[in-house]
Amino acid sequence: MTAILVTGIGELVTLDPEQPEATPTDRADVGALGLVHDAALVVHDGTIAWVGRASAAPGADQRLDLAGRALLPGFVDSHTHLVFAGDRAGEFEARMRGAAYDGGGIGSTVAATREATDDELRALLAQRIAELRALGTRVVEIKSGYGLSVEDELRLLRLAREVTPHVTFLGAHVVPREYAADRAAYVELVTGLMLAAVTESGCAAYLDVFCEPASAHAFDGEESRAILLAGRAVGLGLRVHGNQLGPGPGVQLACELGAASVDHCTYLTDGDVDALAGSSTVATLLPGVEFSTRHPYPDARRLLDAGVTVGLASDCNPGTCYTSSMPFVVALAVRECGMTPAEAVYAATAGSGRSLGLDRRIVVGAPLDLADLAVLDAPSHVHLAYRPGLPLARPLLPAAAAAAPATSPD
Ligand code: NIG
Ligand code: FE
Repeated sequence: MTAILVTGIGELVTLDPEQPEATPTDRADVGALGLVHDAALVVHDGTIAWVGRASAAPGADQRLDLAGRALLPGFVDSHTHLVFAGDRAGEFEARMRGAAYDGGGIGSTVAATREATDDELRALLAQRIAELRALGTRVVEIKSGYGLSVEDELRLLRLAREVTPHVTFLGAHVVPREYAADRAAYVELVTGLMLAAVTESGCAAYLDVFCEPASAHAFDGEESRAILLAGRAVGLGLRVHGNQLGPGPGVQLACELGAASVDHCTYLTDGDVDALAGSSTVATLLPGVEFSTRHPYPDARRLLDAGVTVGLASDCNPGTCYTSSMPFVVALAVRECGMTPAEAVYAATAGSGRSLGLDRRIVVGAPLDLADLAVLDAPSHVHLAYRPGLPLARPLLPAAAAAAPATSPD
């Protein structure tokens, strides 16, 4: 196999605070990024073979010079709903005129998605994957949740599994219209026949629930607990949509049941923050949602100061956040959630990676390839928030190569 030297890296984000060549700093947030300036690395056989200062780099079969650009592990978008048809621009427009979001619009996406053929959904998904890859995302988690019948949930999970192993069963997104008069029957379906079919398919690694007593469409604490316990019993990892629209039991439940992640975390009590700090559950913030719903932004500062592991993800979906741009999410997290640029970049790579059980550090021996890396048309990670709205981040491999099956997002 060919050894490739990537050199001329103005700033390398290794995510390894122990990196011996890292520029010394007394800032803990910057230290966590393990920044090596004027750096180089060698990738050999799908593995990081060498990392250090460019002046000390070994020879290699091929050489790629980044001319002073910054390089980092590709973003991990650990929360998306990418398999759907239709859009809800009208609902967004109404919100910008003062309407509130309550999850009721999910039903219209369910209807449009059920109508779409597999090939139509596959094409929409491929387009969305191309969009997020173009902006530097390498790993993507995808949820079902716009099928809400046994057959349609399985269809969405299978389509998601074609593009990523990080697939989450979200049959408990909302109670579908046909079950509105009998919520208990829907919870029974999700925890019974639907979950059995999902387990049998082997497509999902996680189960998620929209735990939101503030929404008439979503699930309350007891319903959520039953659904999460059923998922745990069949060996699925757990994720929770919690505390998005108001205070609620989602965060406590996620921590108590050992969920990998609780996402949104917009309305938190001190008790919620304490529970997160005492757990291994990642608090994944989705500030693109607050941008699009006009809710207050989550307070990342409060979580970080309490020692909570924070992740960042897009939540790309047609209702509350129709963008998959992780650079946009990073910029919002810095500007609106109280994070430093270093904390936001860490959360969007290492933090969200941890919620999927991934180690994203660029260290010798790590199973990372060129396709796992993102380059910035900028000299440092700070520019992601400093120059918002510009396409500074892109995959290190050109789009054509990155589209090949061997390097599809995983
Ligand atoms: O994470 N809140 C629940 N699910 C999505 C929104 C889905 C939709 O409105 O279509 C979210 O915000
Ligand atoms: Fe979501």
